[in-house]
Amino acid sequence: METKKRSTVYDCSMIELDRHHHEKGNITVVENSRTIPFDVRRVYYLYDVPGGESRGGHAHRALRQLIVSAGGSFDVTLDDGFVKRTFTLNRPYQGLLVVPGIWRELNNFSSGSVCLVLASHEYDEADYIRSYDEFIRYKQQQ
Ligand code: TYD
Repeated sequence: METKKRSTVYDCSMIELDRHHHEKGNITVVENSRTIPFDVRRVYYLYDVPGGESRGGHAHRALRQLIVSAGGSFDVTLDDGFVKRTFTLNRPYQGLLVVPGIWRELNNFSSGSVCLVLASHEYDEADYIRSYDEFIRYKQQQ
């Protein structure tokens, strides 16, 4: 699961997902390989985040993710050790692709918001870097 290339925040991007309009509502579909550049092996979602709370505060060594606001809005700040970029997610048909080796913070959750995450691997605590100092050392070694 280890990655060697020193990734940057410019390797991460907002992508526009399909939107199928119906008079009774819309539907957005994500399919492995077709829609996103990895196969999804885990889905999880954050909800009931108390006002003012922040999530994230870690990086992953190998995990790739697509982060979507399934409802409401929140900000995602990505950090590669040199540059930070903040994205506001507030459309269910947009997704933020996050490559490995990027520190992320999620905050400014609106009331009732749902952060949907499609991930390339099953949960593995060993894939996390939870100390920012360790993250900076990790980036310098890449
Ligand atoms: P974490 O990824 O640190 O949360 P966030 O980035 O949203 O702030 O996970 C929080 C806790 O949930 C952590 O103790 C591990 C657990 N967890 C799982 O057991 N499985 C999972 O797939 C995820 C994402 C988290």
